[in-house]
Amino acid sequence: MSRASPSFTCTACGASFRKWAGRCDACGAWNTIVEEKPLSAGAGPRALGARGRSIALGALAEADAAPPRQGSGMAELDRVLGGGLVAASAVLVGGDPGIGKSTLLLQAVAGFARQGMAALYISGEEAGAQVRLRARRLGLADAPVRLGTETSLRDILTTLETERPDLVVIDSIQTMWLDSVDSAPGSVAQLRAAAHELVSFAKRRGVSVILVGHVTKEGQIAGPRVIEHMVDTVLYFEGERGHQFRILRAVKNRFGPADEIGVFEMTGAGLAEVANPSALFLSDRGAPSPGAAVFAGIEGTRPLLTEIQALVAPSPLGTPRRTVVGLDGARLSTILAVLEARCAIPFAGMDVFLNVAGGLRVGEPAADLAVAAALLSAREDVALPADTVVFGEISLSGALRPVGQTENRLKEAEKLGFTRAIAPTRSKLGAGFGIEVQQMPDLTGFVGEVFGAG
Ligand code: TYD
Ligand code: MG
Repeated sequence: MSRASPSFTCTACGASFRKWAGRCDACGAWNTIVEEKPLSAGAGPRALGARGRSIALGALAEADAAPPRQGSGMAELDRVLGGGLVAASAVLVGGDPGIGKSTLLLQAVAGFARQGMAALYISGEEAGAQVRLRARRLGLADAPVRLGTETSLRDILTTLETERPDLVVIDSIQTMWLDSVDSAPGSVAQLRAAAHELVSFAKRRGVSVILVGHVTKEGQIAGPRVIEHMVDTVLYFEGERGHQFRILRAVKNRFGPADEIGVFEMTGAGLAEVANPSALFLSDRGAPSPGAAVFAGIEGTRPLLTEIQALVAPSPLGTPRRTVVGLDGARLSTILAVLEARCAIPFAGMDVFLNVAGGLRVGEPAADLAVAAALLSAREDVALPADTVVFGEISLSGALRPVGQTENRLKEAEKLGFTRAIAPTRSKLGAGFGIEVQQMPDLTGFVGEVFGAG
């Protein structure tokens, strides 16, 4: 391919194509593919064969000190970062517009500043008065944060060179533009160039940068996935509209575990940390009702109990509905197929609705058994015992497979007052629990035990 040939990029996922198309083959989004100019805006490529300099090489065994970290004072945020913010690291915080990214980052930057970091907050979206008003509402007006409102990256970088802060927050990266890049602010080329400039500045000058990125549903503005590969840590801030819970999830972390989550609650006075999320997610449980099962899950390094809810009703439609919120739809189809094929419990002709209470998203295969329990409970109209938690992976044969961190799951369940757990056989139980564990070899055994003959 010659260098001058046009290139097209999906603004949602960053995949590149040689031809325009209405739908992105990589992520399935519509109308997100735009033409992109090559990024090398400066001098053309040097002739191959021109020599560079040799780079320094070292041994793997060389001892480096652990990177210095700074806590923000917000325990949930520090946990997701892997124990605080690493010096000179680049962090991307993505999320839907309006989910609370600016609120979170303003609280975080104030926290870091109060811990002694020289911190700047650059807003490209809101006027200074707006940010100051929010800071006052959140009780952060006295934090030693310096605020700037600017979108020209050249001016921002010049300011950073003279100020040399420890931390800078850029809200949002999509509003930033470089005059050396010949395309509109928000385009893939601008986003990549702006992120590249800020990340290389971070590494060069030992400044930590936190970039805010809006997840976008249309093609005019490029989304944060386009720059995920450039940064050290990628966090997504998620939550259901209408729920006050917000989850900060690490999807990539070069300095800590990925999959770690922090739980927050959006209140009138900003984001409050939720130290005991299991209690919160189970708090609105009433009397035991058919269709609900408590799943003892693990999010990152922390056990988290959630309620899986199912509703099964006769369908008036030729193709019954399968509606899933907070779980993987394909996983539901698999579990329904296993129930039908291995346990002879058909769901044909029935609408199935499946939901994780509280707006949480569960990705663990360990949720399979809880999903099956909720489905069966809804179908048979029999409530599961209120004192029981369920977990385990279901294989296509109908066998139950043990899952990781059984001990942590059981401890959390015991802490919250549950007295019985249903788990796959061969689960590593550890020693001494005040909770009775019933081990099941397969789904048929589970159906027989919990719902009589099935
Ligand atoms: P915001 O941080 O502006 O979202 P983002 O930067 O992700 O677009 O937050 C917007 C929402 O948060 C807005 O709908 C109002 C709500 N909110 C509260 O409920 N309480 C608060 O204290 C604040 C500051 C915002
Ligand atoms: Mg914002």
